[in-house]
Amino acid sequence: MGDVTSTLDPVSTPASGDLGTGEPAAERVLPPLQIGPITVDTPVVLAPMAGVTNRAFRTLCREAGASQGYDPGLYVAEMVTSRALVERNVESLRIVTFGDDETPRSAQVYGVDPATVGAAVRIIAGEDRADHVDLNFGCPVPKVTRKGGGSALPWKRQLFTDIVRAAVEAAEPHGVPVTVKMRKGIDDDHLTYLEAGRIAESLGVAAVALHARTAAEYYSGTADWTAIARLKEEVRSVPVLGNGDIWSAEDALRMVRETGADGVVVGRGCQGRPWLFADLAAAFHGTTTRVRPGLREVADTIYRHGELMIDYFDGDEGKGMRDLRKHMAWYLKGYVVGGEARHALAMVSTLAELRERLDALDLEQGYPGEDAEGPRGRAGSPKQPHLPYGWLDSRELDAEFEAKLREAELSVSGG
Ligand SMILES: Cc1cc2nc3c(=O)[nH]c(=O)nc-3n(C[C@H](O)[C@H](O)[C@H](O)COP(=O)(O)O)c2cc1C
Repeated sequence: MGDVTSTLDPVSTPASGDLGTGEPAAERVLPPLQIGPITVDTPVVLAPMAGVTNRAFRTLCREAGASQGYDPGLYVAEMVTSRALVERNVESLRIVTFGDDETPRSAQVYGVDPATVGAAVRIIAGEDRADHVDLNFGCPVPKVTRKGGGSALPWKRQLFTDIVRAAVEAAEPHGVPVTVKMRKGIDDDHLTYLEAGRIAESLGVAAVALHARTAAEYYSGTADWTAIARLKEEVRSVPVLGNGDIWSAEDALRMVRETGADGVVVGRGCQGRPWLFADLAAAFHGTTTRVRPGLREVADTIYRHGELMIDYFDGDEGKGMRDLRKHMAWYLKGYVVGGEARHALAMVSTLAELRERLDALDLEQGYPGEDAEGPRGRAGSPKQPHLPYGWLDSRELDAEFEAKLREAELSVSGG
């Protein structure tokens, strides 16, 4: 199997490369992103996505990002819970593994207890398991917020403060920068991001990232990029990264232009489209090159993804193929592939079967254009956030909530 980057021939699309000024871009759009001691030349971050951004998928994204000859950016691993890490759960330790040439190595930790988060960060930083640690305060999943975790947590400002402080203190002796990723707040009446941003900055985090939605919005509607601009006004001494609804390189440029963000964080837009990172790298370096793969290139990428998955699961073909299945619909979005073939690909259980099923597709198909672009992945409608009873009554944490929170970590699943 060849290198995936060699199959993704870039095309030049001058009209899409301008910065909204009518002039083709000629220079890099932003300076390098400085995350503590780490310089990320291309200010683009792969958003941590539980169940998606494992080592296999990151490899594809990084290869695509590097294919244009630029630094590929920063690629964050799936979230790991602090407790599981401290207990040295095998699957959690697997999450914090990186490719041989993966640099910087970026991990994300989710936790609700300062001491446990500190201990988890000490494991990552002290045992040289990663070069960067991001803290997740954005999870909107009801079973997490119901116990006060995820995006409900910054509402309890002292707890938020203690967790961030514990992480920074644990990482600092090892020269590992800590960043914070959060949502706007619980709902429009209970916004936390400006305060949380200020607190995090004052505690020595190296950057803050904002998914510009509230927990109540879940993944619905459109992200409110004006909040990113607002946060940028508030947090002055470290980079502010914007996140939410970047589906193309042009979206990323527009976000930067409209918000003043120091970099972009891209999640769902790259599901089934790792080559988006080629476009992003090109765009941020002012070139108009964009990758527009035909179905043969997509099939080659799927196959390589399968190989990488199996490698990630230590040669367990069944496990690798099962994890690959969820990516199929994303990869095939917009391409003419019949329902039966799609179904069969989504049930694939061996690499040989994968090859056979991919070869049976009409591989001469070119890029379908708009049909392969735009929103993909998780969506849905707004949800009334589930919170512990009385959670919003006070910004302080009492003993009852503390007990609930401990349970919150047991049921987390990303987001
Ligand atoms: C399947 C999935 C899993 C996610 N898991 C995490 C996670 O583990 N940690 C986190 O901070 N955010 C997680 N998120 C949120 C994304 O990092 C990102 O903030 C969100 O998708 C908005 O960005 P986007 O519009 O570019 O997708 C997840 C999102 C999705 C769709």
